[in-house]
Amino acid sequence: MQLFLDTANIDEIRQVAKLGVLSGVTTNPTLMAKEQGVEYKDRVVEICELVKGPVSAECISRDVPGLIAEAREVAAWHRNVVVKIPIDAAGLEATAKLSKEGIKINMTLVFSANQAILAALAGATYVSPFVGRLDDAGHDGMEVVRDAVEIIDRYHLPAQVIAASLRHPPHVTAAAKAGAHIATMPYRVFMAMLKHPLTDVGIERFLADAQRYTKDKTQARG
Ligand code: E4P
Repeated sequence: MQLFLDTANIDEIRQVAKLGVLSGVTTNPTLMAKEQGVEYKDRVVEICELVKGPVSAECISRDVPGLIAEAREVAAWHRNVVVKIPIDAAGLEATAKLSKEGIKINMTLVFSANQAILAALAGATYVSPFVGRLDDAGHDGMEVVRDAVEIIDRYHLPAQVIAASLRHPPHVTAAAKAGAHIATMPYRVFMAMLKHPLTDVGIERFLADAQRYTKDKTQARG
């Protein structure tokens, strides 16, 4: 399983990248809009240089010729760019054509197992079910992840499932148990995975005991 960061913020990416467990980044137009005064292409290339793994950048064209032209342009920005395309009829048709050219597609805004089947059959490299948004709408988001993984694995389709729109650490655990190949999450969820109050208490106690131990040794020597 791999962990991706879902952000366009370079400081967040830098902080997580140095932990040594980050495999890629996903962005979307909403995340990009939060970054003031930044050129889209420049930021995507900057992230690619920092992370050395797949970096998803989303297309905004709404028809097949527009999507194909935009995806070819975005894919040429850097060898690690994955082009994100929302799943609808135009998105699916464009994905089928682009994947035959060797362009890697992350099919996004997936909310059902059927959409995941279509995306995988169109040749998408990644399929992204949005767990949190499904949960918000009263559905079981993780069930779509579980179904998509089961179907993709059963038919040996080459697509990988990215559990997306994750809102808290238990979502990451559930995504791992559901067999998601990748989980992408915001910075705060990534950092929250690391924390446990008993770890903090344990470190404090060990440090206090180590001070007593080193003091005893110093006194014994003197
Ligand atoms: C995934 O690629 C998306 O960018 C992301 O997970 C969307 O999550 P949200 O529901 O928090 O906007």
